Amino acid sequence: MMKGIILAGGAGTRLHPLTKITSKQLLPVYDRPMIYYPLQTLLDAGIREILIIVAPDRAGDFLRLLGSGKEFGAKFTYEIQDRPEGLAQAFLIGKTFIGDDNVTMILGDNIFLGNETFLLNAITTFAGGARVFAKEVPDPERFGVVEFDAHMRVVSIEEKPRVPKSRYAVTGLYVYDNTVVERAAALKPSARGELEITDLNNAYLRDHQLEVCLYDGFWLDTGTFDTLLDAGITVREFRRAQTRS
Ligand code: TTP
Repeated sequence: MMKGIILAGGAGTRLHPLTKITSKQLLPVYDRPMIYYPLQTLLDAGIREILIIVAPDRAGDFLRLLGSGKEFGAKFTYEIQDRPEGLAQAFLIGKTFIGDDNVTMILGDNIFLGNETFLLNAITTFAGGARVFAKEVPDPERFGVVEFDAHMRVVSIEEKPRVPKSRYAVTGLYVYDNTVVERAAALKPSARGELEITDLNNAYLRDHQLEVCLYDGFWLDTGTFDTLLDAGITVREFRRAQTRS
């Protein structure tokens, strides 16, 4: 079975003062709270058991907003991340929830639009190892960046490189088999003190277990004022296009 995790902790310092008294993932993106979008991505992929990981002082707000999951036809579980100590920490926090299953994690500030079928297929055909999604972006140095060889085989993933080896960023949607729990437990904190998802992906890559799919739908992480605004405007365009068609 495939379970889901939405990682919605973090400090959101780049969005101060917007995030001084609330979580980034609760801010509006056009007509919905931000977390509704990654939640919808998991629901569209057929995932019904979802762990929502939140920062300690915001837990009540998420619970009030999302509840048991019944309203969404799903079952939600909540866990607290005491400090933002890295994306890969989600699999230590989520160990009991994951149990013996595979897991898809999505970041609470990542918005994927317009290619639900692609993601549904990518998740339902998952057979083991790790599957991540890369997208060509103008500012790859903000992300994990995929290095390909001449045959488009993945050579490495580098976290926020000063000189990116390609324009392909790893997006905030990751599909892992059950070995993710032990692989995350073996990670050491990076120089910035975080358990890095890039280290986790490279651990799969070393074992020839990492697949990088190119994603050609719309994708944005909403960590900055500009990307937050862009996300709202883009969602509005999508909604208008939907009502026209
Ligand atoms: P970041 O963009 O690294 O986190 P942030 O936006 O909170 O940080 P900043 O202070 O730079 O503005 O993380 C991406 C997403 O992952 C975001 O939704 C927050 C979440 N996150 C966690 O839940 N726990 C963590 O330990 C980290 C590092 C991030």
